[in-house]
Amino acid sequence: MADGFAWWQSGVIYQVYPRSFQDSNGDGVGDLPGILARLDHLQTLGVDALWVSPIYPSPMADFGYDVSDYTGIHPLFGTMENFDRLLAELHRRGMKLILDFVPNHSSDRHPWFQASRSSRDDPKRDWYIWRDPAPDGGPPNNWLSEFGGGAWEWDAATGQYYYHAYLKEQPDLNWRHPGLREAMLDALRVWLDRGVDGFRVDAIHHLIKDAQFRDNPPNPGWREGMSPVRRLIRLHTVDQPEVHDAIAAMRRVADGYGPDRLLIGEAYLPIDQLMAYYGADLTGFQLPFNFHLLSTPWEAKALAALIRTYEAALPPGGWPNWVLGNHDRSRVASRLGAGQARVAAMLLLTLRGTPTLYQGDEIGMTDVAIPPDRVQDPWEKNIPGLGLGRDPVRTPIPWDGGPLGGFTTGEPWLPLGPDHGRVNVAAQAADPFSMLALHRALLALRRAEPALSIGRYEPVSAEDNVLVYERHHGSDRFRVLLNLSAVERMVDAVPDAAHIRLSTHLDRGGEPVSGALRLRPDEGVVIGFDDKGKGGE
Ligand code: GLC
Repeated sequence: MADGFAWWQSGVIYQVYPRSFQDSNGDGVGDLPGILARLDHLQTLGVDALWVSPIYPSPMADFGYDVSDYTGIHPLFGTMENFDRLLAELHRRGMKLILDFVPNHSSDRHPWFQASRSSRDDPKRDWYIWRDPAPDGGPPNNWLSEFGGGAWEWDAATGQYYYHAYLKEQPDLNWRHPGLREAMLDALRVWLDRGVDGFRVDAIHHLIKDAQFRDNPPNPGWREGMSPVRRLIRLHTVDQPEVHDAIAAMRRVADGYGPDRLLIGEAYLPIDQLMAYYGADLTGFQLPFNFHLLSTPWEAKALAALIRTYEAALPPGGWPNWVLGNHDRSRVASRLGAGQARVAAMLLLTLRGTPTLYQGDEIGMTDVAIPPDRVQDPWEKNIPGLGLGRDPVRTPIPWDGGPLGGFTTGEPWLPLGPDHGRVNVAAQAADPFSMLALHRALLALRRAEPALSIGRYEPVSAEDNVLVYERHHGSDRFRVLLNLSAVERMVDAVPDAAHIRLSTHLDRGGEPVSGALRLRPDEGVVIGFDDKGKGGE
């Protein structure tokens, strides 16, 4: 801890999507020994913690988010010994490991569900959500699945429907049942006992559903082309008040292992609703994921307003966090283009709050078009053509310019991007102006200057599509100027007695600043003030 801040406040989290990180045995799917073999990359990059998407036994209907054993390792990813080695090696390097916890649903192959569906009298029947048919024999209500179609699956053998917020192979667990709840908390304990540093908790806003099973109301804002699940407002299926008791129970378990264990919650919610996930008196998640950079228009005034609104909404003592990408959303370099992706990296890594970086974004990977016969994601298979599929953002990391990018010696489970001859780790490591070089420089600057991680955030301006803010810590002051446009901008009234510490173009470090500053197209700069003592807290 620096200055009384926890590691997860000053640190940077890096998301590993293990299937696509590094394959070590030629089966075309990444694995734990593969992650171990690539830790030098992550350490040189300068990240503090890895969040690894699910590595548990799973039939892979949703690529690991359908868990059939919460405390095991899928053989595809390796063994428990591989896991322990990875954890030990991360700790030896001063890095942390965060696992993915998927509490909302299990796989339909989980022994609990097998028991639950075996008979209405089974002791585990109510570990899942079973309902009688509606009077007409149809589903109990109008609830829809995130991945298309209805959310109720008929079970002829026992004459009831079960609820699944996602695939029918992902039956929802019943967190109102004390036995289920304790069994899930025990799974957390197993991993905490092994030494993991925390969890990213999946789909948490879905965890509790309306006890009365009321119909969801229609959404007047739904339009053709939008995901079919949005036809309804998810009034009774997400963000139910009782979810906070369950989160607090998870937090008590984590806190039982010391104050350094971290819980991050995944909930795509408006800012005001999201704040409740810090919990009453901060008894919930330390970091409820803030996904709002993914959806806010990339324009200075809109971003300034987002940052202001989010900062103002935080509960007392609540720590901010920011996300630019993950395994579910279009990559930042595709959303914004290569030039603005560099500016976005500077924003992410100089805002107040914990940043999460998605694997591959550090080399500017883009969404990869997937030929129809290579589609893997069930979402795309169920609802093709709307751009909902997530395969394009899950393609393997190209480590070098070889035909298989050094990712595998076999057939990769998803194709590599057509640009991997250029967009790869080795090529960018050798190029002092690359996206990778920029990420390394940003992370190094952030580590060297605590103002950039834990310092106060001070908005300055958002004119002409240039976003300007400052970070203050003690007598240290930095100003960040981000040109969000592809044209040159002059920024006036930049105080004298400052030096450029970093440009997204990586070519003007150390230049003195005086009065006005010319920002090139797609350029962001961090300037450091020489006048120590004037901006102090
Ligand atoms: C989360 C995961 C996503 C998964 C879903 C169901 O949103 O990030 O990948 O499909 O939950 O578990």
